[in-house]
Amino acid sequence: MATTEVKISPEQIKASGVTERVAEPCIVVIFGASGDLTKKKLLPALYHLDQSGLLPEKFAVVGVARRPLKDEFVNDMRDGIVKGGGVESGDARLADFLTHVNYHSMNFDDADGYVRLKTLLESLDKKYGTNGGRLFYLATAPDYFAEIVDQLGAHGMARSEKGPVRVIIEKPFGHDLQSARELNDNVNKVLSEDQIFRIDHYLGKETVQNILVFRFANGIFEPIWNRNFIDHVQITAAESIGIEGRGPFYEKAGALRDVVQNHVMELLSFVAMEPPISFGAAPIRTEKIKVWKAIQRIPMEETVRGQYGAGSVDGESVIGYREESRVDPASGTETFAALRLEIENWRWAGVPFYVRAGKRLAKRSTEITIQFKQPPLLLFKDSAGRSKCGDIQPNVISMRIQPNDGISLRFAAKVPGPTMQSCPVDMDFDYATAFGVSSANGYERLLLDAMMGDATLFAHRDGVEATWALMTPILEGWAANPPKDFPNYAAGSWGPAASDELLARDGRKWRQL
Ligand code: BG6
Repeated sequence: MATTEVKISPEQIKASGVTERVAEPCIVVIFGASGDLTKKKLLPALYHLDQSGLLPEKFAVVGVARRPLKDEFVNDMRDGIVKGGGVESGDARLADFLTHVNYHSMNFDDADGYVRLKTLLESLDKKYGTNGGRLFYLATAPDYFAEIVDQLGAHGMARSEKGPVRVIIEKPFGHDLQSARELNDNVNKVLSEDQIFRIDHYLGKETVQNILVFRFANGIFEPIWNRNFIDHVQITAAESIGIEGRGPFYEKAGALRDVVQNHVMELLSFVAMEPPISFGAAPIRTEKIKVWKAIQRIPMEETVRGQYGAGSVDGESVIGYREESRVDPASGTETFAALRLEIENWRWAGVPFYVRAGKRLAKRSTEITIQFKQPPLLLFKDSAGRSKCGDIQPNVISMRIQPNDGISLRFAAKVPGPTMQSCPVDMDFDYATAFGVSSANGYERLLLDAMMGDATLFAHRDGVEATWALMTPILEGWAANPPKDFPNYAAGSWGPAASDELLARDGRKWRQL
């Protein structure tokens, strides 16, 4: 069953003023620009912003990496933008955009490279009229983050009298609590907190932002959004892809560091936080941190880790994690993690939150499930306590973050016929149908926000440390007790059996996605 959709046209969206945010003149300087992120996400995002009229005319991009590239870099970016869709390689608008793209080759620890970079940026200021505005984007291996910030400071590039200087730092921000603190201390020596934009691209996803709109722009949900009505919450971030050639990175990361500490914890905070006093960076950050701080230490027996073996995904045979390139054939890295946690505050005490994330699962699906309590009296059941459609099911709100972004509400409806029987039905809201457009790639929104100095959708130092404080004891516990059963799930399944047992112990099940 579908809702009656209120169609909103792209013209109406434009007229609403949301597209009137235009960034200030600046040069976007991407360190680590020869990596996939720049080609697949950042340049396509900048191109789309440009085409939507959201980039200033006075604008340039400089890719910085070790290899001596020049024309190859621009050609590579062209390919990335074309592959991203919506434009042909010979398109004049694309050619025009690419005239703003430059390349600078240097080693990130070479002082002379920064001297040359500074000279290049000053000459580009004259060419493009960017007036000293800078957005440095650190997309390098994390080991270079502190070094680059330090060098920018030492070479007078961390501040400018003329235009704003901001720095986006990609994840992973640290690999445990101590390293995150050290990194924060190091970058804070050079940059003030309002110059730092720690990116979590989940926060740029429209559907993630929509969690707040759903909760706080509607009157009917908030009164029941608490322990009196909600039985439990599930958050799943399932991917069907494997590690896509990122062996060396993933071997050191694993699912808990790669996705749970950041993306999943962000989703959880949006679901669980108290209403902020306004939609500003500081009030939202305050409420998010309160949620993370209210989570009690997670007992080891309420954690599950898994690693995929060979199997089949979408009908195709795929290899196991230990057979992937540049992965230790005896690797103990987890490609799946599940946790049961509780938020000890007035709203949530006693409501379990089950979260899971993994690679090579049955399908790609990021979803939040709010399961409500059973009604106090089940009137419409047969002698076995069941409905015509099986077990009586409680109400469920499910928020599909991706794909098919939207929200559905499950409730019981009377089955046509002479008897009083009920079956669950779904009322469904689908982004693409309602708004005529699917939600935008998170990087577009986040790049634009950073260019405008709006930190609302970025992680703050305190938040990063709060989530690491939750994950670090688990990582230490796992490290002290290496897994004996890896691989323990087949590619294309829903993870290890222990993940189902985690909920079965409480008499619950993961929702079938
Ligand atoms: C990244 C992780 O942060 O998020 C990847 O490093 C993961 O391993 C990706 O695949 C998932 O992002 P999305 O937007 O595809 O859900």
